[in-house]
Order: sequence, then structure tokens, then C-alpha cells
Amino acid sequence: MSDASVLTPAVPKPDHIPDALVYDFDLWHDPALNADPGARLLDLAKNAPPVFWSPRQTGTWFVAGFEAASEAARDWESFSSEFMPYEQLKAINEARPEGMPHIPMPFPICLDPPTHVKYRQPLNSVFSPKAMSALLGNIREQASELVEAFKRTPDREFISSVAEALPVTVFLNMMGLPLDQKDHFRQLVKVSLPGLKAQEEMLGPSLAITAAMRETIIARREDPKEDLISRLWKTEIDGHPMTMGDMENLSILLFLAGLDTVIQAIGFGVRHLAIDLEMQENLRANPGLINDAKEELMRRYTFANVHRHVTRDMEFYGAPMKKGDWVLVSLPIADLDPMHFKEPGRLDPEREEKVHIAFGTGPHRCLGSHLARLELQVIYEELLKRVPSFHLNADRPPTFHGGSVIGVDTLHLDWDG
Ligand code: HEM
Repeated sequence: MSDASVLTPAVPKPDHIPDALVYDFDLWHDPALNADPGARLLDLAKNAPPVFWSPRQTGTWFVAGFEAASEAARDWESFSSEFMPYEQLKAINEARPEGMPHIPMPFPICLDPPTHVKYRQPLNSVFSPKAMSALLGNIREQASELVEAFKRTPDREFISSVAEALPVTVFLNMMGLPLDQKDHFRQLVKVSLPGLKAQEEMLGPSLAITAAMRETIIARREDPKEDLISRLWKTEIDGHPMTMGDMENLSILLFLAGLDTVIQAIGFGVRHLAIDLEMQENLRANPGLINDAKEELMRRYTFANVHRHVTRDMEFYGAPMKKGDWVLVSLPIADLDPMHFKEPGRLDPEREEKVHIAFGTGPHRCLGSHLARLELQVIYEELLKRVPSFHLNADRPPTFHGGSVIGVDTLHLDWDG
């Protein structure tokens, strides 16, 4: 039963939206979503139209069917990622008063092609599978240490001990940032990510994040090392050498895109293993199966919704969209679409329809998917190897949050011994 008092206010339905396509769903505050996202998203995939309009979040379309979501994510000409035109974004920085810091912009996630391509290009080589596999040894070392420390914690709360700590440590190490800033960065993750709800709330956290990286970025320009910041300094954007502003933009992008996401993927995956003991035992006995299982866990618990706006009046999967309408491409609902996935709620690493869109699709498809997969593979391996059969703590059930990135807040595990 939904509690209307916690929902964001509903806005009046614009005239161009037919009643049949209105479905009242609040991605941030829906009580059923916050109680159990996996169950609520499955229910939406079954019962909501593949494209619907919700009066919450100032009124937005949800593109939720698998085919429709895949098409919307690829069709950047009709569904723009630019919350503000590129030229205007650039002008904001150029016009800022003397002494005011550069305003970091997460390019290229908020840009459309062809400008998007210019900013994505330097990142392609530094995020290649080969470049990422070089991080494997370090990821394993961090993961095993964190799991061992987790075993000694009195309350066995997994998110803060492991799921949050691992991506932050991997990020600092990959970027070449000082490891003694770990706690500061974990704090920045906590304060900045709820801000993703609204662009205007992002300025403060964005400035704090770039401030935390600035010293290292400047140092690596003069004295390059083997880390990603040093390698990015050697790349170019559209034939021009990197500027300090470009480096800050890329750093903020990687922080925002690469930390919270991995935390949630680990959180949802481990929560599943804690309730599906048969699968847990099977993976513990056969670590070779972890590779396919982690991919199916990504599909079953897809959690990132991506924002777009409509660039022209059009009919899209029967929905009359108007230029300027807001759109949430709901990858989590799409990956549970019963028209595309047989028994979508069932975890089946052997399923025929293996391809999912948890990492998006189209020009903005996730650049960090190789790194994320590596982190997931290693954490499942280390956890299953080092912790005996674990289950949820019956007295402290997991807690979750909705939002554009749906997530697990707390996960208390338990085991004998
Ligand atoms: C399981 C973890 C992850 C998930 C589920 C995920 C998901 C996504 C999704 C859905 C997009 C598409 C956004 C859009 O269409 O607007 C995206 C883009 C992106 N991701 Fe990830 N991501 C993950 C981890 C990472 C990591 C570890 C990094 C790097 C440190 C990263 C870097 C990026 C970047 C740079 C983009 C923007 C690409 C572009 O705009 O061209 N991601 N990610």
C-alpha cells in the first residue's frame, strides 16, 4: 500500500498525455520500491505499460519495455542527454567571475554526439579491457583484506565494510590519489550521490570532489606516474592538449559514474546470494560458474535509470511525446521485461536471452564495464572463498533506496562461527 505523504507532489497531467498512459510511480519515494526493489521492479515490468507517464518528479515519461528502452538509449537524436546545450555549459565557465573555481561538468555523459565523441575518445584507451586487467592484482589484494576485516566486525554489515570500501579504494589506486584519503572519499560518495537527484544540488559536492583531486592532478602534469590521471594528461580532446578544466571534468565524471554503481552492484548481488543458498553453495563449490552468474545478477538487479529529454514531437511506442518532455529510460524495469526475458524474476545464468542493458546501450554505453565486472568477479570469489555459508540476519533485514541509481543501504549478514 503506497503512503502518499512520502511521495513527491504530483503535477497536473499535460494535455498531450493520454489517460491510458498515466501510471503513478515515484522512482525516489515509492514505498514498495524502497522496501524491496527487486520485487517492485518485477511488478512494474509486468503491470505498467512499456512506455508510461508519471506525474511525480515534475512529470516524466518512463521508457520501461526492453525494446523501447534499448531504442531510446541508442537514439540520441530524439532522446538527448544534454540537460543544457554544450555551448551554454562552456559559456557558464567562461563567464564566471575572477577567482571563482572552474565548475566541473561530467563530460561526456551529459553531451550528445558529435561533441560527445570528442570527449569520450580519450577515455576509450585508458579504460580498455587490457588496461583494466592490469588492476586485477591490486583489486584482489584489496578485496581479500576487506573481506577478512569484515569477518572480524561485530555487526557483519556488508555495505559499509566491503561494498563501499572496495570501489573507493580501487578508484583511489587507479587514479593515483593518496590512499590516506580513503575516508574523505567515502564521505564524498555519501554526500554527493543523493545530489544526483537534481542538477542544481550538484555544484557543492562537485566542487568538493574536484578540490580533493586537484593537488594530484596538478602534480601529475609535471611528474607523470603510471596512474590514470597521468595517462589522461597525455591524451587530447579534439586535437587539443588537456587543460586543467578538462581533467577536472573527466575526474568528476569517473567519480560520479564509477563509485556508487559498483557499490550497488555488489550490494544487490551479495544480498541475492544471502537468500539463494543453493546458488551460493553451487558457486562456492564451482567458482568457474561465477562469471555467468555475475552477469545474470547484473540483469536481475539492474539498478541505473538514465535521464534524457525529448528533442522533437513524435510518437514513440504509441506514446505521444513532445519536444522538451523529460524521460527516464528505466534499464532496471527493461531488464525484467517479460516480453523479452522468459521468467525474468528467476536467476538463470544459463538463460538463452543473456544480453542485458544494465550498462546501458548506444553512444553512452558504460565505459567502466570492464572494471566493474572485474571488481564483481573478484569480490564474489573472495567472499565465497573466505566466508562460510552466509545468510541474512533475520533481526536486521536489508534496507534500500530508490532514485535514478537504486541501491542497498545496509546488508547485515550472518553465518555460523
Ligand atoms: C556495475 C557498475 C556500473 C554500472 C551498472 C554502470 C552503468 C552505466 C550506465 C547505465 C551508463 C550509461 C549512462 C547513459 O546512458 O546516460 C554508464 C555510463 C558510464 N559509466 Fe558506468 N556503470 C558502472 C560502473 C562504472 C565504472 C566502474 C566506471 C569508471 C570508473 C564507469 C564509467 C562510466 C562512464 C565514464 C560513463 C559515461 C559514458 C558516456 O557518456 O559515453 N561506470 N554506466
